[in-house]
Amino acid sequence: MLLSVPGAGCARHAVIEPPPSGRHIASRSLDLGAAVQAQPLLTDPAYARAVARYFTVVTTENALKFGPLRPSRERFDFTDADAIVDFAAAHGLGVRGHTLVWKRQLPSWLVEGRFTRDTLIAILRDHIHSVVGRYRGRIAAWDVVNEGLRDSLRAGADALRPTIWRRTIGPEYVELAFRFAHEADPDARLFYNEAGAEGRGARSDAVYVLLRDLLRRNVPVDGVGMQVHSGLHRPPDTAAIAWNMRRLAALGLEVQITEMDVGVTDAGGTAEERLDRQAEVYRGVLATCLAEPACTALATWGVSDRYTWRYPDTPLLLDREYRPKPAYRAIAELLGATAPAGP
Ligand code: XIL
Repeated sequence: MLLSVPGAGCARHAVIEPPPSGRHIASRSLDLGAAVQAQPLLTDPAYARAVARYFTVVTTENALKFGPLRPSRERFDFTDADAIVDFAAAHGLGVRGHTLVWKRQLPSWLVEGRFTRDTLIAILRDHIHSVVGRYRGRIAAWDVVNEGLRDSLRAGADALRPTIWRRTIGPEYVELAFRFAHEADPDARLFYNEAGAEGRGARSDAVYVLLRDLLRRNVPVDGVGMQVHSGLHRPPDTAAIAWNMRRLAALGLEVQITEMDVGVTDAGGTAEERLDRQAEVYRGVLATCLAEPACTALATWGVSDRYTWRYPDTPLLLDREYRPKPAYRAIAELLGATAPAGP
């Protein structure tokens, strides 16, 4: 079967073979994911169709963050998360749960609560047990701790960002979060997810050391998420990413590209040139992931340029009308080349 892409931008009457949907791509044992929001999923049929058609796994973009989920200490609101998880189940898609412990999108009752260490540990335990437990068997992978590192790292200084978790509980909050998640779902794959730590440098070194130390203490951590929010001006260094993936793999860890997007407004050139350069960035990162056995997924941070946290930039694979862009075609081509599309 030929691999071609729906709405590939050529003549309208071009013969369109069955699209290289997520499912075709999945036959290659690499997931193509997208961060999904409940609101457009429920109200915009074109958005919902695109999710099911082009992707094999969804990440909850905001629905499982502490703030949206816990308007008050006593009450959970699972409405949006349930909508996403139910949609995924109905369409045979996997789910990445994002995220249990983060510095942002925290409710004010938590930030202003002045809790003791023991109480905050109890809150963390209860939160993770409730959330991971609710989706046990339905959410296969979790970003347990997200962006634990400081923005700038100095040699000899504590690498962990002084969030409410770090300040109140101490550095053990990381280990505790993983242990609580593992208790709640022993089969879920548990990730540490980080920004700007994909290549060589102090940040990726800090992630490496953090994960190595967790593993030495038998903390149940399975993988590292590399966000790869990027642009055209300083595109990701794929050779450095490959090197970093290999050293993490040598620790026994799985690696996923978890939040990729490639902005185009930071560079010159015509619109067409920028789309082509964007496609090359996606192609390069996907090729790197495909070449490293430890890399099991590439997820974009959004479905289409219609809804992106970087709006009005256009960093994703589908345009605002959900048409595949050159970047999507580059990805489909690469996956098609390594895995002939099958039914
Ligand atoms: C972003 C969402 O996309 C926005 O809708 C929200 O307002 C803020 O958070 N790194 C992460 C994600 O790990 O959780 C962030 O998501 C983007 C940066």
